[in-house]
Amino acid sequence: MAAGKGTRLKSKRPKVLHEIGGQALLRHVIRAASHIVPPSDIYVVVGHQAARVEDAVRDTGVHFIHQHEQHGTGHAIQTAQSAVSRYENILVLSGDVPLLKSNTIAQVRDFHIFERAAMTILTAVPENAIGYGRVIRKEPGSNDVSAIVEQKALTSEQAKVGEINSGIYAFRTEPLFAHLGELKNENAHGELYLTDMAGLLVHAGERVLAIQAGNPVEVLGANTIAEMMELDREIRLETARRLMSEGVTILRPETTVIDASVEVSPDTVIEPFVQLLGDTKVGEDCRIRSYSVVENTTIADRVTVRQGCVISGARIGTGALLGPYAHIRPESEVGEDAHVGNFVETKKVVLGKGSKANHLTYLGDAIIGDGTNIGAGVITCNYDGVNKHTTSIGDGVFVGSDTTLVAPISVGNGAYIAAGSSITEDVPEGALALARSRQTTKPGWATTKSAVAKKKLSLNH
Ligand code: UD1
Ligand code: CA
Repeated sequence: MAAGKGTRLKSKRPKVLHEIGGQALLRHVIRAASHIVPPSDIYVVVGHQAARVEDAVRDTGVHFIHQHEQHGTGHAIQTAQSAVSRYENILVLSGDVPLLKSNTIAQVRDFHIFERAAMTILTAVPENAIGYGRVIRKEPGSNDVSAIVEQKALTSEQAKVGEINSGIYAFRTEPLFAHLGELKNENAHGELYLTDMAGLLVHAGERVLAIQAGNPVEVLGANTIAEMMELDREIRLETARRLMSEGVTILRPETTVIDASVEVSPDTVIEPFVQLLGDTKVGEDCRIRSYSVVENTTIADRVTVRQGCVISGARIGTGALLGPYAHIRPESEVGEDAHVGNFVETKKVVLGKGSKANHLTYLGDAIIGDGTNIGAGVITCNYDGVNKHTTSIGDGVFVGSDTTLVAPISVGNGAYIAAGSSITEDVPEGALALARSRQTTKPGWATTKSAVAKKKLSLNH
């Protein structure tokens, strides 16, 4: 069920497309379900901003059912009836209960089938039950349920019940669809509640059972941004724990933001307040220092990323040293043992083995060979206002400080460029290029001038 608006979020984005752990809530649920049944047996009920929701998860191969107006969870299942009535049993999952593990879904399924129940409800006893529907068992200790009561309808006695409805159920379709039309909207929201099926089925003499989740965290719902961020924290801590169990050191893991998709090899150290996002891989014996944000990037072994680097869509070679405060933009390839220092920005650059750009530089659309030194303040002028052009620099080149390289331009192997040059013509291999105005020095000028100035000053007083 993923058709709801998520009014409590106060957001333009549909609830199930809000992200935790770097992925939409709905994607987490589909992933867990896909371990139980093939995507061709998964039906997602969409409604609010349906096209947007469908686009976001279409690649998973699930089916979609349109609930054009959202009249409640019971109505969502009524909408799905014709699509799923050919199955003997169905599992119902909520698009906003994203931490659920496939093992737990399998337990619900197995218990439901074994017990031949009409309805099986996954329950939990979380620290705080407020806001959830409560599951009323016929007797304490029995698996038989008499009803689910929504928060707003609880009597003071029922409000003491700590066992909540997770919104995850298994149903035998025959009794479900025989009685689904009996739901009434006489409740606080004027909606058709799927939860009322428990009472209806019991009334019809069917078996309605509860099975309690071992870990209540798995069934926490995400109705508000604050609840969602609690789940985000859970999922990221789980990722951090997994990486630590694989030999990665994470200092103060609660401060890091690491997507579940990230891979890190043993003996790498991740300092506090680091973000590792998307399709990022970090090799072994690396150190990622504080405040660095690394996204969709492959980092080889023995790399040091110093404080405050922003790295996106790049490849970083073994032994490279980055930062502090380097901005490595997409399609940058930093070679083995290369250095990219403070306040250096790279974009679509190949920086060869052992090459260095240590200070205050912009390198864009450039191919730079091995063992080349790029001095402080060097700029590749890659843009003429209309098009981007390439700068190509060979091996063992020395580019003096404050040089501008007006692309398209090429500098041959072993060439030298004098500091402060504006290079507009190709520099051949082994040459020295100077492209700046010659210095004029006027001996004694300053002393004379300051003598005159001093004289003026004393006259004024
Ligand atoms: C629901 C349960 C509550 C349970 C809680 C667990 C009902 C009436 N209550 O409450 O007992 O404790 O989940 O998290 O079911 N949806 C649709 N179409 C609709 C309405 C909702 O597809 O017309 C979807 C929503 O997008 C959401 C899911 O169903 O993914 C649950 O709906 P929501 O409104 O969040 O129900 P809760 O109030 O959390
Ligand atoms: Ca909910």
